[in-house]
Formats: sequence, structure tokens, C-alpha cells
Amino acid sequence: MNNKTLLDTAKKFGTPTYVYNAETIQNQYTKLKNAFDGIDVKLHYALKALNNINVLRLLKNEGSGLDAVSIEEVHLGLRAGFEANQIMYTPNCVDFTEIEEAISIGVHLNIDNLSTLEKFGNKYGNTIPICIRINPHIFAGGHNNISVGHIDSKFGISFYQLKHVVRIAKHYNIVINGLHMHTGSDILDPDVFLRGADLLYEAANEFPDLTFLDFGSGFKVPYKEGDIVTEIELIGKKIADSFRNFCKNYGRELELWFEPGKYIVSESGKLIVQATIIKQTTSTVFVGVNSGQNHLIRMLVLMDSA
Ligand SMILES: Cc1ncc(COP(=O)(O)O)c(C=O)c1O
Repeated sequence: MNNKTLLDTAKKFGTPTYVYNAETIQNQYTKLKNAFDGIDVKLHYALKALNNINVLRLLKNEGSGLDAVSIEEVHLGLRAGFEANQIMYTPNCVDFTEIEEAISIGVHLNIDNLSTLEKFGNKYGNTIPICIRINPHIFAGGHNNISVGHIDSKFGISFYQLKHVVRIAKHYNIVINGLHMHTGSDILDPDVFLRGADLLYEAANEFPDLTFLDFGSGFKVPYKEGDIVTEIELIGKKIADSFRNFCKNYGRELELWFEPGKYIVSESGKLIVQATIIKQTTSTVFVGVNSGQNHLIRMLVLMDSA
């Protein structure tokens, strides 16, 4: 989107206006989809990254599924036209009634808590296969608040509690068809993906009914010039090699899933604002605009005083 396009858009729709470039989103989706050396990975777009319904429709048309973390996100996905079975629902600390509602809708359920697993087993037994979110105890992510796979994180069931998962699953006859892990967002060190993958492969040996492994996300995009970026082809090839090897040892072909958010949409959007006033103080020039943190918490916007 060049400045002329942005100015034309501002004239047509007024300001402030969010504008997204569909081509950027499509290109990022395709780049990620093709990065895994011939493996047909399933991508579930993490809609928390940007929940504009037209962006969801665009990604649905590209063939994406959805990663939803609340029942509201599930409903938004359905409204955008996704089928229930295209949605992976990964709640954390929600009331069990929300999980019951999601089950009645028919989405994939990803459980990240032993007590929820007990409740699920007690009510549903082996009637619906489920996925288990594992906490791999890996500290990764751009900063503390988006590092969610470490030992003190509230997300996932500890890698060291897998024996409890197996015991509960046996007791209630629960079918576990997937294992999931998401260590954090904005991951700086790509080796983290491989360390996490190795842990999932090890965990998978405890679960004979798996049909997929979900490696979450965390692919890094640039926020400013010179920023570290995940070299997706490089890491894709390494993960694909290790995954093929794992499937051989497991004895069956499984599906490989990811749930990218930022990687797909971060570079696609602009907030167009109108400069309202210029204020010169003794030290600084401030440009006032007709928007605020209510529209963009991190106010790094392209401003045009035209
Ligand atoms: C469970 C889960 N999956 C996927 C994502 C998307 O991560 P990213 O935006 O880094 O791609 C998040 C982000 O917080 C998440 O919590």
C-alpha cells in the first residue's frame, strides 16, 4: 500500500480508518504453507491476532482453519463461515460450561488442565477425541508476557505430568488424538521450535491414537528495520525433516498443524489518521491526530498532515 492508496482510502472512507492489504495476508499464508518441504501442513489462523471478519473470510478462502481461545472467538469464526470442524478451541481457565458449549458446536477441543480433563472424561468418556496442550517448560518469546511455555506459565499441562494425563485418559477411556504446544510469540531463537518438537515427539510415544501434532506458533515478524525475522524456509525444512523421521518411528503418518497469528497479518495493516493540530513546545513538536490508544495500543502509525 503506497501513500497514494492510503490517501485515496482516507478520502473515500474518512479517518480514522483501518486498512488491510489482502495480498500481503495471502502471500504470508502461502509462504508459511509451502515452507515445510512437501508436507501438507494444516494452518489454523490464531484470530486473536486480528479478528476483522473480512480477514477471517479471506483466510477461509485460502484454506485456513482457525485457532480460537474463547467461545466468543468460536462464534465469530462460525459467523465468518468456518465449519465447526475447522476450528481448534484452546481455552485456558474458562468455566466448564463454555467447554460444554464448544463441544455441542463440534469444534476440536484442546484441554490444558488436569482437572478439566477429569471433568471432560466423567461427562464425555470416549465419545469425542480431544487434544492435550503440553507445557514444554521452554522459555521463549519476545518478552515475558508473551512467553507462555515456561515452568510458571498457566498454559498447558506440564511435560512432567504426562503420566497423570495417561492415567486419567485410561480411567475414563478418553481418546487423545492430538498433542499441542505453543511456547510463545515473537520467538527470537528458531532452535526453540526444534527443541519443542523433540519434546512433543517424546510425549507422543505415550499416546497411540494420535492423528496430529500441533506446534502452535511464535514465528517472528519484524517490528522495525533490522529486526530479527524467523527464516521460515530454513526452520520449515528442519521441522519437516524431524517430523518425517518421527512419523517413521511412530509407525504412522500424522498431520502437522500450526496456528500462526502475527506471521500472517502483522505486516498487512495500517491505521490512517488525520493530523488535527501541531503543537510546538520549547523542546518538542507534537502532532495531534484524530485517533488514540483506543484504536492502536502501540501508536506507531503512518501520519499524514494533508
Ligand atoms: C495458543 C496460541 N496459539 C497461537 C498463537 C499465535 O501466536 P503468534 O501470533 O505468535 O503467531 C497464540 C498467541 O498468543 C496462542 O496463544
